[in-house]
Amino acid sequence: MTHNTRFTKGIKRQSAWDLADNQVTPEAVFKDRRNIVKALGLGALGASIPGYVQAGLFDFGNKSPSTFTTSPLKFAQPTAFAIPDPLTPESKVTRHNNFYEFGTSKQDPFDNAQGFNVNPWSLQIDGLVDKPITLDLDDLTKRFALEERRYRLRCVEAWSMVVPWVGFSLASLLKEAGVKSSATHVAFETLFDPDQMPGQKNRLMGGGIHYPYVEGLTLEEAMNPLAFLAIGLYGKTLPPQNGAPIRLVVPWKYGFKSIKSIVKIRVMDKQPPTSWNQLASHEYGFYANVNPEVDHPRWSQASERSIGEGGLFSAKRIPTQMFNGYGEQVAGLYKNLDLRKYY
Ligand code: MTE
Repeated sequence: MTHNTRFTKGIKRQSAWDLADNQVTPEAVFKDRRNIVKALGLGALGASIPGYVQAGLFDFGNKSPSTFTTSPLKFAQPTAFAIPDPLTPESKVTRHNNFYEFGTSKQDPFDNAQGFNVNPWSLQIDGLVDKPITLDLDDLTKRFALEERRYRLRCVEAWSMVVPWVGFSLASLLKEAGVKSSATHVAFETLFDPDQMPGQKNRLMGGGIHYPYVEGLTLEEAMNPLAFLAIGLYGKTLPPQNGAPIRLVVPWKYGFKSIKSIVKIRVMDKQPPTSWNQLASHEYGFYANVNPEVDHPRWSQASERSIGEGGLFSAKRIPTQMFNGYGEQVAGLYKNLDLRKYY
């Protein structure tokens, strides 16, 4: 999930940008620019890093306030799928993001998305269903019984968090729409609104992705009780940088499957295209199940940095778990699949 793949065709180099992505980011460390230049060993190299990357490296210390309004939610306390891991602090969950529509550095979504207008919103569920549904902003918080799910989130870049999401299961929505027997897959689409999402206008800022961002699951995956539609985190509606007003959370898969700011869910009878796969199919597959035994072509997936625990280089490295620790719930889905081939 780096610029290199896209902008240096055919050249695989381990750059400072990779390092910055992977050796993420307790905020305090980023407050001292001199230390970070030294710590990353950039020195003279720092001068040769493109300006947009430098901006990304150094803007972690910004104290710009969040101006987007979030509202408290009523929900059932966590029961299903409770995990013992400590939660990642809210300040990290909302300031260390991947949302390329707002820029490619981790702080960009926070900095650039505060003016994001989600009202009105329209989420359409259609395709191979008995009863297409359109949900407006109000429906998202009122139509389904909300619950909290504390899930591990494992990014393909080898960092991870534990987030208390609020929302409802994807299955409950699909059941309401009534999935037809011919259906095999579910496709998801993010809002396309270049006036609000500057990365959709500017190819460099948007990381080369062909927008709108799209994702997909098999129908079985989508109906698994773990697959979740989050409308909030930490007890409040989602801030824009985390995918307001509604995003997918598929905790046993790499984070890029968890598509944000969804406007369309389409039930289909074939595998839909997915954004990262379209961009670099040899690096990002359709399945993208968290798997410590199948490395990314450019880095190991055997361990991950747990965000929010210690400094930049002491951020705790923990072993990556098969299916991100959710094997009991999902391993059965892949009994007959070669996970090396279908990565
Ligand atoms: N959805 C959209 N529309 N655009 C994106 O760039 N990034 C993905 C995913 N969903 C992304 C997206 C990636 S790579 C990750 S790791 C998660 O969002 C990050 O979610 P978070 O910022 O809430 O931690």
